[in-house]
Amino acid sequence: MPVQLLLSMLRAPASTGAVVPSSRALANAMARAATGAELIVELGAGTGPVTRALLEQMPGVPLIAVELQPDLARMLQGRFPEADVRLAPADQVVDALGEPDGNVVLVSSLPFRSLPRPVRNETIASICRFLLADPQRRLVQFTYQPRAPFRAPPGLRWRRLASVWANTPPAGVWELRAHV
Ligand SMILES: C[S@@+](CC[C@H](N)C(=O)[O-])C[C@H]1O[C@@H](n2cnc3c(N)ncnc32)[C@H](O)[C@@H]1O
Repeated sequence: MPVQLLLSMLRAPASTGAVVPSSRALANAMARAATGAELIVELGAGTGPVTRALLEQMPGVPLIAVELQPDLARMLQGRFPEADVRLAPADQVVDALGEPDGNVVLVSSLPFRSLPRPVRNETIASICRFLLADPQRRLVQFTYQPRAPFRAPPGLRWRRLASVWANTPPAGVWELRAHV
């Protein structure tokens, strides 16, 4: 799906944040990091490589895939009918989750470093509120930078889980969750 992501990058560079889709190796590392989830909410599903890895590694686990761009959301729903694709901003979907039971994992490809500042701040705030409400919950996020994707607020802590060299560019997979 490289062409779709390239077209999205031309239309909305700040919110797309990547020209090349995530590699199979990165998508698999993201899905492995979500092992044990009873509900997965994928934020910024894009062209779907991580969606596919999540469905392959955790068949039967409910998956909500969130994407802001209408053409990508339509394509995702066509490719992955078993996923619940939402055409919406990530923060709105996270806020609307309420208090779901069990082990909920947010799996994000959102490009926090390039998002417009108000969107970035609102999205981080809603993710952090959601995680702070239950220590079982976690965010899995990749970044191309050597440091954590964004500053953790009090009560949450980042942990680097993996480095994936077989990706353009190489990426780190991080987890954010409450420390008790
Ligand atoms: C780095 S790209 C997708 C990466 C994906 N793993 C792939 O290879 O296609 C990030 C995606 O997040 C989406 N996005 C950006 N801001 C968003 C927001 N606030 N809510 C939902 N999706 C958003 C973009 O439209 C884009 O498709």
